[in-house]
Amino acid sequence: MPYNMTWQHICTGNRLFFVLLVVSSVGIIMETMAKTGPTHGKVVVCYISTWAVYRPGHGAYSIDNFDASLCTHAVYAFAGLDPDQSAIKSLDPWQDLKEDYGKAGYERLTGLKRTHPHLKVSLAIGGWNEGSKNYSRLAADPIARGKFVKQVTSFIRKYNFDGLDLDWEYPTQRDGNPILDRENFVLLCKELREQFNPHNLLLTSAIGAAKNVIDMAYDVRQISRYLDFLHIMCYDYHGSWDRKIGYNAPLTAPNGDVLSVQYTIDYLLKLGAPAEKIVLGVPFYGRTFKTPYDGNIDDETDGTAFQGPYTREDGFLGYNEICQILKNKTSGWTTLWDPETSQVLARSEKDVFTGLVQAVTFDNSRSIANKVKFAMDRKLAGIMIWSIDTDDFLGECEIEEDIYEDYRHLKHSGLRLPSRLHNNYPLLRTINEAMPLAIEEIKNKHHHPEEMEDHDDHHVEDNEIPHGSVEDRKGESNTALRCIHNSLFTVLLLLVAIDRFF
Ligand SMILES: *[C@@H]1O[C@H](CO)[C@@H](O)[C@H](O)[C@H]1NC(C)=O
Ligand SMILES: *[C@@H]1O[C@H](CO)[C@@H](O)[C@H](O)[C@H]1NC(C)=O
Repeated sequence: MPYNMTWQHICTGNRLFFVLLVVSSVGIIMETMAKTGPTHGKVVVCYISTWAVYRPGHGAYSIDNFDASLCTHAVYAFAGLDPDQSAIKSLDPWQDLKEDYGKAGYERLTGLKRTHPHLKVSLAIGGWNEGSKNYSRLAADPIARGKFVKQVTSFIRKYNFDGLDLDWEYPTQRDGNPILDRENFVLLCKELREQFNPHNLLLTSAIGAAKNVIDMAYDVRQISRYLDFLHIMCYDYHGSWDRKIGYNAPLTAPNGDVLSVQYTIDYLLKLGAPAEKIVLGVPFYGRTFKTPYDGNIDDETDGTAFQGPYTREDGFLGYNEICQILKNKTSGWTTLWDPETSQVLARSEKDVFTGLVQAVTFDNSRSIANKVKFAMDRKLAGIMIWSIDTDDFLGECEIEEDIYEDYRHLKHSGLRLPSRLHNNYPLLRTINEAMPLAIEEIKNKHHHPEEMEDHDDHHVEDNEIPHGSVEDRKGESNTALRCIHNSLFTVLLLLVAIDRFF
């Protein structure tokens, strides 16, 4: 056969070609189906508070409730620190491990990678209850640090985790060392990175959102060199501790107020955190208050709050608890949407016996959709969730209908909003659904600059990536297209080879 193939030759000549075509088509279909996670190419980091398994009734959440198709990353929270051994340790061996007929939570979560190969699973160490002091001491001692980074590497590999999430809350705060923790945290990150690199493990950290914590605790530029992602805890801006009603996680705040999501993110960008490593945290919970007044923002309280039937923690209500209250039409609760902050205030009628109004400030689906839009506008890596066990994971509440109310350009261009096959995980589904919509919305906005919105027209220059190890861990956008491309190319190469041989 001649070397120069014509299309006629390809199409009429060789029966093998049709076989190859069929084989490669099947290949394409299978590769596309093997895409087991989100397809938007952004990260969705899902924290699971694993003590949620002990909540009563429909509040109980176990690994079996986790839907790996809705997250790119899962974080198992929390493991603890054994300061005497300089070692990470399980805080609930019966739940986490399989020894002594334990429930093997670690391996049940990492085992989901078999059916969901896209999923990365990290183990978080720390959290609020672990305090700061023991971490401060560990980070200050070079020998203890060295021992820890080795031990933690073999620990997470033993259970098939893909990485470690540092949840030291916070360096320099809460009995930490106010002077030395900042630099020692950098050293801890650096040494973990060196130990992790040969094993291709992820290193991430939960980062406090308050300006004073950021200023004291983090050398942002330095830790960004060693961390794959910074999970920014953009919540708890206000709560019952303020002794007045305030929003848990306002997207924006009036000029000069540093307690907002926008301030936190733009401040971190300014301090040199690369946008592509920043993951914006959103709360799947609200903050609660009790007041003798009407239940408006800034109404004074005596500092007391109330709790929910599942989470049973004063001052805190899961979204799943809030939506149960609101769907009860005889409960007497009303809601107010605040367009400035993208927050919801819900409040009860005044109790006739106590004279008090109960109030909760929280994120609904519309709040979350607006935060996704903000994150996409700033070109961030994606969204983090604390925590998915308080989403309406059973799908017991109604889907909200005004989710994309603030996607004005998309609405004007007549885009049909996606309909959902499932009612469960409404907030988490909103995140995944909103990512491509937000990118589209921002594109449209830039095509019509005269309609530019007020608060999100600000642009930050792209930052350098000081640490280039995340390329292969980033989302795979356009997988299907690339795959078709590659398969066609392979077919052509094979044809050429066959042509030469026969
Ligand atoms: C710090 O470590 C000590 C010694 O193991 C332990 O008793 C203490 O509870 C730890 N601190 C916190 C806040 O967990
Ligand atoms: C709805 O709220 C009312 C008033 O608070 C309460 O008595 C009732 O038990 C609630 N219904 C459900 C289904 O929770």
